[in-house]
Amino acid sequence: MLSNLKPQAEDKILALMGQFRADPRQNKIDLGVGVYKDATGLTPVMRAVKAAEKQLWEAETSKSYTALAGEPAFHAAMAEMVFGANYPKDRLSALATVGGTGACRQAFELARIANPGFTIWVSNPTWPNHLSILSFLKQDHKLYRYFDSAARAVDFTAMMADLDGVKPGDVVLLHGCCHNPTGANLTLAQWSAVADLLEAKGAIPMIDLAYQGFGDGLDEDAAGTRLIAERLPEVLVAASCSKNFGIYRERTGILMVLSDPADRALTQGTLAYLNRQTYSFAPDHGARLVTMILTDPALRTEWQTELEAVRQGMLGLREQLAAELKRLSNSDRFDFIAQHRGMFSRLGATPEQVEQMRIKNGIYMVGDSRLNIAGLNAETVPILAQAVIDAGV
Ligand code: LMR
Repeated sequence: MLSNLKPQAEDKILALMGQFRADPRQNKIDLGVGVYKDATGLTPVMRAVKAAEKQLWEAETSKSYTALAGEPAFHAAMAEMVFGANYPKDRLSALATVGGTGACRQAFELARIANPGFTIWVSNPTWPNHLSILSFLKQDHKLYRYFDSAARAVDFTAMMADLDGVKPGDVVLLHGCCHNPTGANLTLAQWSAVADLLEAKGAIPMIDLAYQGFGDGLDEDAAGTRLIAERLPEVLVAASCSKNFGIYRERTGILMVLSDPADRALTQGTLAYLNRQTYSFAPDHGARLVTMILTDPALRTEWQTELEAVRQGMLGLREQLAAELKRLSNSDRFDFIAQHRGMFSRLGATPEQVEQMRIKNGIYMVGDSRLNIAGLNAETVPILAQAVIDAGV
């Protein structure tokens, strides 16, 4: 049996992680995988997470199973963070998942059960795992144009022209904030125009929200999602706690679905069923920490303060890099770096230039020239800027 297996294509982000680890150079710089690093290159456990873990260790009396769909308190805390305090409780179904990837996967599965024969529309470019999961599921999907590579900005006219082809019941996958891999986001006016279009088409928005709090702030980063939630009758939101709580390996995520209240019980039941058919119960430890942090005022303040410092740190690095590149290139063609938001920007380098920077300078970025801003610090920004100019970007 096993000799029938065929080698699978490597995930390019994870392959790069391996390549970086194997590079013996001391001065190598990892701008690959989307993991936050502080100025010393560490991915710290956030203070509020440490404090919650301590409290949990003292208070937890059982490791017995939790609810199949996850704890209602986790659902409520996450719904409040994503949709705001007045979220529509009568429309919400929710499912604790194995990270944000698990939430995306279960969202696809839910749509496939509810609406066989639909097409899912995905931004070009998008996070490679979206496409690889959709291909694995043999799910019909189409790309819509999103990014103007020359201007390094959203090509909204092209996006709307492509989405004009959406059919009733199709799912349109949008990045809630901090678009991965480009860093170029929709304005609120553009979100509103997308909502109008999806409403007119009878399409279902699915929002992947993996970086809330990394762009313009916790509420600001959810503004597009909230607008969509208010305007569209059915909405799928896959949210990750990996980045904003720094609990990557705990695999904490949630799929939240807004529906007509009349369809809520059926939707909630189907979500729980999906967990049972894949891995039964999602991991609970991270979800419990997140719930504690979001509902305990002291922990929440501590967490928001640290998250805000992380966000400001990335903004500062963006500004420093844009200024350094302005100085070295004697042009404003890299100003977009300061305007983009979140961990990533797509630099606009060719695969050859990316490879040159890896070989010559030990700088690792994804082949499409996506760079993780959080992989930089004040000392490495000038090194990257010089390498970018030397590579002829
Ligand atoms: C990334 O895009 O680098 C992150 O979301 C990590 C991953 O799993 O790809």
